[in-house]
Amino acid sequence: MIKLTNVFKKYNNGTWALKGISCSIRQGEFIYLVGPSGAGKTTLIKLLTCEERLTKGELQIGNANLLHLQEQRIPLLRRQLGIVPQEVLLLDNLSVYKNILYSLQAVEANRKSMKQKALEALELVGMTAYQHALPGDLSQGQQQKVVIARAIANRPKIVIADEPTGSLDAKSSIEIMRIFYQLNQLGTTIMMATHNSTIVNTIRYRVLEIRNGEIIRDQLSGNYGLPSDEQDIFII
Ligand SMILES: Nc1ncnc2c1ncn2[C@@H]1O[C@H](COP(=O)(O)OP(=O)(O)O)[C@@H](O)[C@H]1O
Ligand SMILES: [Mg+2]
Repeated sequence: MIKLTNVFKKYNNGTWALKGISCSIRQGEFIYLVGPSGAGKTTLIKLLTCEERLTKGELQIGNANLLHLQEQRIPLLRRQLGIVPQEVLLLDNLSVYKNILYSLQAVEANRKSMKQKALEALELVGMTAYQHALPGDLSQGQQQKVVIARAIANRPKIVIADEPTGSLDAKSSIEIMRIFYQLNQLGTTIMMATHNSTIVNTIRYRVLEIRNGEIIRDQLSGNYGLPSDEQDIFII
């Protein structure tokens, strides 16, 4: 469902952030994107979500060819993706529930179905009890759950998350992983950039390792990479 063939990305300042990335991802896969800071993980994610356009190569998502996709069609693609950006961005003056409704307004015309989708998404991430809270009253982990609820409210087939546990403690990170696990079990393709070796080494899925804009490893059921972390034991 996602196919990259020799994908390059050059930023306006001349930096080549991606240098010939190729890989295929099937519906229902769970993929960790790992690699050091500056490797190109966020750039790859931004190409998939069309926040940035690729410079050359082929990038196919479903039937969309992203090299040639017209600007006005980008929203059509984006509303079919569940996007969890690196920065948690919620509207501070709206309740949790209204934050989700607000983002659904762009994609769902039917008011009743919009409400139902928002409540279902909150239920899935375990935040129903906080639906009337303001984001500022929640912990970081809870805010991240709301961001995920917002991303999945329109029931996307693909969820793309950029370091979703980056600023969370171990307990919240596990809870976030439980949500992604559950979504994946429901058939959602998950791509997740992460620095968390404990998660990658404990909950095994396909690992794509990027370094200097190139894929240096594509391993089914991989680990974070050597040397492994002595703390890689999880008791849940
Ligand atoms: N908007 C930008 N303009 C210019 N260079 C950028 C931009 N965004 C990222 N880069 C550069 O591209 C490379 C990859 O960055 P990034 O994709 O953010 O890596 P990662 O997410 O793995 O840390 C880095 O060298 C970074 O400095
Ligand atoms: Mg990044």
